[in-house]
Amino acid sequence: MRKKYLWFVGLLLMLLVTSSCAMPPVESVAVPNQAGALSLRSLAQAQGFGIGSAVTLKGLRKDERYRQVLVREFTQIMPENAMKFNALQPQRDRFNFAAADEIVDFANDRGLKVFGHTLVWQRALPAWLKAGNWTREELLDILHKHITTAVSRYRGRVFAWDVVNEALSTDSSLRDLIWLRGIGPEYIDLAFQWAREADPNARLFYNEYDPSGWGARAEQKVDALYNLIAGMKERGVPIDGIGLQMHVKVSDAPTYEGVKKSLERLAQLDLEIQITETDVRLVGSSDPLATQLATQAQIYDGLIRACLDVPRCNGFWFWGFTDRYSWISGFTGKPDGPLIFDRFYQPKPAYDAIAQALAESEASRP
Ligand code: XIL
Repeated sequence: MRKKYLWFVGLLLMLLVTSSCAMPPVESVAVPNQAGALSLRSLAQAQGFGIGSAVTLKGLRKDERYRQVLVREFTQIMPENAMKFNALQPQRDRFNFAAADEIVDFANDRGLKVFGHTLVWQRALPAWLKAGNWTREELLDILHKHITTAVSRYRGRVFAWDVVNEALSTDSSLRDLIWLRGIGPEYIDLAFQWAREADPNARLFYNEYDPSGWGARAEQKVDALYNLIAGMKERGVPIDGIGLQMHVKVSDAPTYEGVKKSLERLAQLDLEIQITETDVRLVGSSDPLATQLATQAQIYDGLIRACLDVPRCNGFWFWGFTDRYSWISGFTGKPDGPLIFDRFYQPKPAYDAIAQALAESEASRP
C-alpha cells in the first residue's frame, strides 16, 4: 500500500517538473514590428534580396523554437562552423560530411538556400595539416582535393561558397598563412578555379573582414580588397561576389555613409556583394540597456540600408539570430547580446529596424 502511494507521488512530481520546463510553442511568440510585416523573409523575398543567418548545430539539433524562427525569418543560411576545413576533413583524406549534410538537408527540405562557409581560411585547420612539413606539391594536392571534394558533394544544393576568407591581414598585405607560405599568392586564384570546376553553377565569393566605413584603416583595406579582386578579374579568375564581414560594436561601428561608400567603390568591380557575418556587440557601452538596444538598432539600420541602397548589394547576413547561441560571449569572455532576437526569441529593437528598412526599400529596388 505504502509503496504504491510513493510511486504515485513520484509520478505527480515528474509531471509537474516536465510541464514547468516545457517551452511554450513557438506560435505564441509574437513578432511585432513597426512595418507590420510577417517576417524578414517575406519582406526580402518580395524584392529578390537575400536575408541570411549563420546556423549552429546546437540550436538546429535540440531547439524547436530555433528551427521555427530560422525557417520563418530567413531566405538563406550559412553553417557557422560545420563546413570549415577541420570539420570536413578531420583526418587526411577522411572526410566527414555528417554535420554539414544535416544542415544542408534541413535547409533544402524547407526552401532555405545554403551558402558554404568556408573553403580556404587561416583558421579552423585540422591538427594533421598544421603539424605537417609539406612540400609545395603536397599542399597543392591537399587544397585541390579538399575544394573539389567539398564543392562537388554539394553541387546543386549549395548556391554559393566563400572560397577564400580573410586573405588580407590588418595592414592589408597578404596574410602570412600556410597556403601563402607553401604555395605562394596564386593559392587564391587556384582555389577559385578548382571551385568553379567542381560546380560551374555555384556563386563564388571572396569574404573579408573590416573593410567598410571605419575611416583610414578601412579605406586602406577597401583599396587592398579592390586591387586584389581587380587583379583576379584581369587574370580571368572565376569570381562572382564579395562578402564584407560586419562584426562591430555599439561603441565603434561604421556609419551608413561609410559603408555605402565602400560598397559603391567595390560595386565598380561589377560583382555581386553581400554584407556577411553581422553582429553588433553591446560590450564596452555603459549606457542603460534600453539606450544600448536603441543604438544597436540604429547601427543595424545603417548597415542594411547601405546595402539596400547599392543595387549590387543583394544580401545581408547575421552571424546567428538569437543571443542564445551567439559566439560573441565565448570570443570576448563577457556576456553580450549582439543579435536581433534575445535569448528567448523575442525580437529586439534591431529586428524592427531591419524589418522597417526592408519594408521601405521594396519600392525602390529593381
Ligand atoms: C567563428 C564562429 O562563430 C565560432 O563559433 C568559432 O569558434 C570561430 O569562428 N570570421 C569568420 C567566421 O569568417 O567563420 C568566424 O566564426 C568569425 C569570424
